[in-house]
Amino acid sequence: PPGTTQDATGALVLGGVPVAELAETYGTPALVVDEASIRARARRYADGLAARWPNSRATFASKAFPCTAVNRLLAEEGLGIDVASGGELALALAAGADPAGLVVHGNARTEEELRLAVDAGAGTIVIDNFDDIDKLEKILTDTTSEQGVLVRVTPDIRPDTHEAVSTGQNGSKFGLLLPQAREAIARLRGSDRLRLDGVHVHVGSQILDLEPFAQAVEAVAELGEFAVYDLGGGLGARYTYADRPPTVEAYLDVMVDVAKRLLPADARILIEPGRSMVAESGVSLYRVVSVKRGGGHTFVAVNGGMGDNLEVSLYQQRFEAAIATRPTGEGELCRLVGRHCESGDTLSAGVPLEDPRVGDLIAVPVTGAYTYALSNNYNGARRPPVVFVRDGAHRAVVRRETYADLMRRNLP
Ligand code: LLP
Repeated sequence: PPGTTQDATGALVLGGVPVAELAETYGTPALVVDEASIRARARRYADGLAARWPNSRATFASKAFPCTAVNRLLAEEGLGIDVASGGELALALAAGADPAGLVVHGNARTEEELRLAVDAGAGTIVIDNFDDIDKLEKILTDTTSEQGVLVRVTPDIRPDTHEAVSTGQNGSKFGLLLPQAREAIARLRGSDRLRLDGVHVHVGSQILDLEPFAQAVEAVAELGEFAVYDLGGGLGARYTYADRPPTVEAYLDVMVDVAKRLLPADARILIEPGRSMVAESGVSLYRVVSVKRGGGHTFVAVNGGMGDNLEVSLYQQRFEAAIATRPTGEGELCRLVGRHCESGDTLSAGVPLEDPRVGDLIAVPVTGAYTYALSNNYNGARRPPVVFVRDGAHRAVVRRETYADLMRRNLP
């Protein structure tokens, strides 16, 4: 993955820092993030989009890695921030993101959450349902201010991805089907306080083929001419050597080609990548706690698992893994398992590891997206720290949870 190299002994070096130094300083499990590679990715998105469609902005879907440090990096690179809850809004504001560049999502927002967004001066609120319109009109009754909104459209497109992260099909809980979207648009055009800027579409996540993105642009074009078209996120990341996701540039080419044919030339285009912005910049580090042979398997058990990475349990995502301090050899096929009390707690069902031993450091790459986001306290696990590496330097940006953290909300 980007930012990783090996030293003369075959040990992994992340952002110029030897992996053993990181494990010693921060302990394991730990999520190590290569700052330069996130910044480079952000520029590829922002500059790539601007080169193809100058009136545009790349926005980071912060749900993929919701912490102030990552939001700050992307805000510094000039990206807008997409938030999907009051909590993500608070994290974006704490990171110093410009409120005008915030895009606020959600299919079940309370009036309180919407009020937080309006009061923060969020530039764009995406309308998911008619209740959003009612709530916002109520919130804005006593003000003179205007709120920019987009209407989220469900275009009935089915990308080839896990069902749980497919969002654009008929029957999705997100957005409004085309006829309802037209109704919402008509209603918003008559609103005094809500300024309809345009439309939004997001058809799913970890999409490895470009056709659904082209179809999504065609679908929003059918709704008519607007000032803003937010084309969502969804481009897949390269989790395993076998995965071949399209490049950022190929993705932008396909969408902008359709946009050039079908959207007004002076419209503003927004995109909201999450996973593909951060996934490949993260590496999870674990220690081997036990090696057990039996039942036809070699189980290599580590001191983390579904508490810090739910991608395998929830979406059957496949990851590579390696012993981080020795050259990668052929090795025997091992089951890399976690420490949690269920059999589904497996980081990899089959990965070649050469002579795995207790105490070995294991690296699982491409864990920068949705792992920190979905980390949890199952079995009393303490969520791991997030460590930024850059040019041979390292710093924790999120500390490890402590037992006191676990106790904090438990009343006597
Ligand atoms: N925009 C909207 C409105 C979204 O709902 C999402 C993701 C994105 C943008 C960013 O999509 P991305 O570029 O990351 O694919 N929990 C799942 C992922 C769910 C994605 C939800 N929406 C996981 O851990 O894989």
